[in-house]
Amino acid sequence: MPTSSMVKQNQSIMALLLLFLIFAISTEVEGTKLFVFGDSYVDTGNFLNSPSYKPPSGITFPGYPTGRLGNGRIITDYLASFLKIESPTPYALRNSSNLQNGINFAYGGTGIFKTLVDGPNLTVQIESFEQLIKQNVYSKSDVESSTFLVNAGANDYTTFILKNKNIFEIAKFMNSLVTEVMLSLTRINRLGAQKIVVSLLQPLGCLPTISVASLYVDCIDLINLVARDHNKKILANVEDLNKEVGKPVFRTLDLYNSFLSAIRTIQQNRKENSTLINPLEPCCALASVGYDCGKVDEKGQKKYTLCEKPELSFFWDNVHPSQNGWYSVFKQLESSLSQIIG
Ligand SMILES: *[C@@H]1O[C@H](CO)[C@@H](O)[C@H](O)[C@H]1NC(C)=O
Ligand SMILES: *[C@@H]1O[C@H](CO)[C@@H](O)[C@H](O)[C@H]1NC(C)=O
Ligand SMILES: *[C@@H]1O[C@H](CO)[C@@H](O)[C@H](O)[C@H]1NC(C)=O
Repeated sequence: MPTSSMVKQNQSIMALLLLFLIFAISTEVEGTKLFVFGDSYVDTGNFLNSPSYKPPSGITFPGYPTGRLGNGRIITDYLASFLKIESPTPYALRNSSNLQNGINFAYGGTGIFKTLVDGPNLTVQIESFEQLIKQNVYSKSDVESSTFLVNAGANDYTTFILKNKNIFEIAKFMNSLVTEVMLSLTRINRLGAQKIVVSLLQPLGCLPTISVASLYVDCIDLINLVARDHNKKILANVEDLNKEVGKPVFRTLDLYNSFLSAIRTIQQNRKENSTLINPLEPCCALASVGYDCGKVDEKGQKKYTLCEKPELSFFWDNVHPSQNGWYSVFKQLESSLSQIIG
């Protein structure tokens, strides 16, 4: 016959078991991770000793440079917060940080092929991830339940345009680029990933480095056309890949329309409120061509000037949105995000 103390003991064992179960379930739910590959639009600090780690980067948030090319948070940070996790650790800092939120393998300036910046291309970034799986840093179920984000291509087009006089060959280049992106996505899928998000190219003709040709009055549609063509190909290929695997594993993050809507909205509001900042004008203006924002000459003279209110600008520099810019892009995307990255 069980004594009352035995019953009590059994009850507390049951309670412990139950607690353990709840704990196990909750850690499972909280186990979502984000793995990021690509360029400066998503890099949160892999390029040590670059301008991203020097002032005025990070001036709005958190107030000092953190390895992001911008004045504060970038899209990676907003996507992580949407997933209710902290922004994943940059790969370069992997030995000194916790890896429970995933890893960010993206390097500013890089692309799918060789670009003007010497850094790991998309393939090499994915290989770094493969190494970590081989070392059992992440388990099979970690990979299956995580979100993978790939944002690359803009630097490839820039490099192509700067190096090739023959712009008519861009269609051929685009095909090889898109093919290579698809191979990378497939490779990530073969590692077990079930949620793979590829960014559509931002409207390149709206970047200040291009829109300066219109004195920042409007985006240059001829250049936007390149992005639209690229995106059409990505969308068609993603659809094909999903058919092949029989599941909607591959998704797209529409940076094209979200950028454009965010910019158009500000342009529209400016008609009524002239104190708003021109969204096409960069906050960090460079003293001359070839100087990055943050550059200081031998005499310690700044080779750039900052706008009065960096926290209100859309673009931080000639190519990167500011925190405010990224936030408005994120807001444009937000309603679709649970289907894309959730
Ligand atoms: C991290 O540790 C690994 C293994 O100890 C080492 O090979 C690698 O160079 C380290 N990386 C960094 C960025 O410190
Ligand atoms: C990426 O870089 C590696 C190492 O430099 C190189 O072997 C590979 O061919 C590159 N990939 C592409 C698609 O260019
Ligand atoms: C105009 O925009 C500024 C921000 O730049 C804001 O502080 C101000 O309240 C706006 N004025 C109107 C009338 O909406």
